[in-house]
Amino acid sequence: MTTPPVNLKISTLSDPSVAAHLSENRGPAESELTHPPVFELKGVTVSYNDNPAISDVSFSVKVGEVTALIGPSGCGKSTLLRSFNRMNDLISTASVTGSLQYHGADLYASKVDPVEVRRRIGMVFQKPNPFPKSIYDNIAFGPQLEKRRGNYSEVVERALTRAALWDEVKDKLKESAFTLSGGQQQRLCIARCLATNPDVILMDEPCSALDPIATSRIEDLMSELKSEVTIVIVTHNMQQASRISDKTAFITTDVSEGGSRVGRLVEFDITSKIFTNPTDSRTEGYVTGRFG
Ligand SMILES: Nc1ncnc2c1ncn2[C@@H]1O[C@H](COP(=O)(O)OP(=O)(O)O)[C@@H](O)[C@H]1O
Ligand SMILES: [Mg+2]
Repeated sequence: MTTPPVNLKISTLSDPSVAAHLSENRGPAESELTHPPVFELKGVTVSYNDNPAISDVSFSVKVGEVTALIGPSGCGKSTLLRSFNRMNDLISTASVTGSLQYHGADLYASKVDPVEVRRRIGMVFQKPNPFPKSIYDNIAFGPQLEKRRGNYSEVVERALTRAALWDEVKDKLKESAFTLSGGQQQRLCIARCLATNPDVILMDEPCSALDPIATSRIEDLMSELKSEVTIVIVTHNMQQASRISDKTAFITTDVSEGGSRVGRLVEFDITSKIFTNPTDSRTEGYVTGRFG
């Protein structure tokens, strides 16, 4: 493997001289420059105890887009999502092979600090998981850990405003986060991610424990946030994937003759194509509800 620069800096991407250099060299097409990849996966396989759970996945995630991962239960969506911010490192039996680049640098290079990775690439889970602390302290916690100077009240207000929660909680910031409804708790968890200024938020079925109204608030929020934060979302809700995502990856489980099961990427494309005119008959079967 080559040793790429691993400083995880993204500032060069907004440097006009870099853009000019790329266009002079007739590198990426115009759309590639306006939407450079945040993640580029090539042959990514994630295994538990050396048994692949999801194998040989290749696709790119673009800046400012919502990318949805869909597929039947157990096909490896959560496993793949955890590889995007090295959460699989926390599972002792898990291993990741292949190439997963983040802004052009190997995310798994030995010099990369996984804690910094998880600050830049936040995660929101199926069940809202606020800390047993006040609303204020849930948001201030990350910035305080980083010992960033400044006024935390402003950081807290800004994160809660970005997560469309400020108006509902501004008069009770010192109350426990557990006094909030499920939907509010989930927006609090999104605000907690936003407080450390992430570049990406990974969401693993963030609405599946919420009612339709709370779900629609989170969906609206994702649409508002996507211009500033790249979002990768696992969802089992096909309407949700078609409503909110720009690109969709359809993953399914292959069962070998010997009975072993492994997740495979069947098709990755623009969401409207996946849902209206997919290339693979397995995708069509899934999105039209014929199986899965
Ligand atoms: N921590 C783990 N240890 C061992 N196997 C796991 C672990 N997590 C998930 N798996 C297995 O990996 C496969 C994919 O699981 P998962 O990524 O949770 O699928 P999905 O999110 O698509 O439902 C399943 O067979 C599951 O049992
Ligand atoms: Mg899952």
